[in-house]
Amino acid sequence: MKKIILTGDRPTGRLHLGHYVGSLKRRVELQNSGEFDRIFIMIADAQALTDNADNPGKIRDNIIEVALDYLSCGLDPSRSTIFIQSQIAELCELTFYYMNLVTVSRLQRNPTVKSEIQMRNFETSIPVGFFTYPISQASDITAFKATTVPVGEDQEPMIEQTREIVRKFNSVYGETLVEPEILLPDNSACLRLPGTDGKAKMSKSLGNCIYLSDTPEDVRKKVMGMFTDPGHIKVEDPGQVEGNTVFTYLDAFSRPEHFTEFLPDYAGLDELKEHYRRGGLGDVKVKKFLNAILQAELEPVRQRRKEFEKDIPGVYEMLRKGTETARTVAAQTLAEVRSAMRINYFDDEELIRSQAEKFSR
Ligand code: TRP
Repeated sequence: MKKIILTGDRPTGRLHLGHYVGSLKRRVELQNSGEFDRIFIMIADAQALTDNADNPGKIRDNIIEVALDYLSCGLDPSRSTIFIQSQIAELCELTFYYMNLVTVSRLQRNPTVKSEIQMRNFETSIPVGFFTYPISQASDITAFKATTVPVGEDQEPMIEQTREIVRKFNSVYGETLVEPEILLPDNSACLRLPGTDGKAKMSKSLGNCIYLSDTPEDVRKKVMGMFTDPGHIKVEDPGQVEGNTVFTYLDAFSRPEHFTEFLPDYAGLDELKEHYRRGGLGDVKVKKFLNAILQAELEPVRQRRKEFEKDIPGVYEMLRKGTETARTVAAQTLAEVRSAMRINYFDDEELIRSQAEKFSR
């Protein structure tokens, strides 16, 4: 069986370091590994509209931001098909059929949707489209027969829902769809990168993000203002590493060569942590080290972004071509789905023949 990746992001804002360690960086590695037959990266604007119906302008403006973030991280349109969800009507039709295979109570149990409903104060007025987006996400994944979905752990319930739909579809209508597998980040600090304020998640609404397109000075300021151990007041005080955001970021970003380059007094992260725990290591020194690492990581991303920003029409053209390619694939799957459900009346000769026979008796 072919190995196919599908993943994507809602274009509700510029992408940040949480996206980067949680999935973007991995995608680029997977792309460059050559292990996959096809890679589809989707800008999920239709899903973003499920809780932004009154603000389509925000979604529209962020499509290009997300596309630029993708390209600047190293996604390469000659190897990965980058496309826009809303331009593929086939996905809606799949969703319409899959809806019949999912119960309301099953949707209500989805923990990610539950917490999103709370976050958005939707309790009393959940838009139906938002409530059902896990089904639409199953269409996104199955339309491309994806075997592998690299996402953050908050997406686990969506993949599980997709797998259930695939099993149900295949058992009712015959083997047609492919059951996908989730691919989580392998470094636990990357699973869910906390915000710079130490809160559980980087989130635009909390204002605790470091964006891929931030200037070096923005990044430096955000790092120097990061949450550490509130009990670590004087340099000589012993400090806590667990729950200390600066160290969580170091877990996610630091590599041995960073020590050689920026902090040669320490053999590695364990030694640095040990010193912090013991006392005598100031937050500023650790933050400066983290800043150096992040600047080194982000500089090539910024440089590439600058180049792509010079040709915005070219970026839209890339998206248009990607969408065209993706649409052909989704249309093929939809044809198979209709045929499995035997609702392809006009090209089902066997159906027409047997009906004719019935009426001639
Ligand atoms: N739900 C994903 C997010 O919020 C975006 C998304 C939509 C997606 N469809 C997808 C991710 C299909 C992976 C596969 O980031």
